[in-house]
Amino acid sequence: MNQDQLKALVGQAALSYVVPGEIIGVGTGSTVNKFIDALATIKDRIPGAVSSSEASTARLKALGIPVFQANEVGELAVYVDGADEIDGQGNMIKGGGAALTREKIVAAQSRRFVCIADESKRVAVLGRFPLPVEIIPMATTRLIRQFAALGGQAAVRQKDGVPLVTDNGQHILDVSGLNLQDPRQFESDVSQWPGVVTVGVFAFQKADVCLLGGASGVTTIEY
Ligand code: A5P
Repeated sequence: MNQDQLKALVGQAALSYVVPGEIIGVGTGSTVNKFIDALATIKDRIPGAVSSSEASTARLKALGIPVFQANEVGELAVYVDGADEIDGQGNMIKGGGAALTREKIVAAQSRRFVCIADESKRVAVLGRFPLPVEIIPMATTRLIRQFAALGGQAAVRQKDGVPLVTDNGQHILDVSGLNLQDPRQFESDVSQWPGVVTVGVFAFQKADVCLLGGASGVTTIEY
């Protein structure tokens, strides 16, 4: 199976975590797109979804799945999202699709985080994937220096030759070369830096379960 087929496999497998009658939290990315497509086949069993990005909202609505604002609803039973990396404890790097802030918000509003990923995302220690950090643009130069002091090389993510603007009107730094041996401490520390909106380490909102797609099918890992 190729990577696209593995994503479809885990997207389909995540349907078994959807609670009938409950609004579902929906993440962002190419793996989640497969989940949204699968979700459309059971859309009559749920009232709708809370979405973590404009892109996912558009896809959900196009498939006839009602989308609620996070503030309109209470706690969600389940949040389904992908990851750029996931370690053996369920800690993740997220934000490759620039949606990390709303992803962390919807994850925090949910009782259970179901991560769907192909096996290429599994790592022993987070950090091979450059860490996305959503920032306020006026803090860019200082934050690049602060990451450099930790050994990281930070670059402003570009789109069509200009800085990418997130759904929240902010920019993304992609930081390589960091030591993420203690993801929880790292997330806690960097979240305090003025100008950081959201750091793409998900240790406080880590996965509760991962559906990992590989050559032998879907492996379910509980944390
Ligand atoms: C979006 O901002 C990300 O957090 C995605 O969840 C992550 O990048 C995984 O995306 P893919 O499923 O496209 O690999």
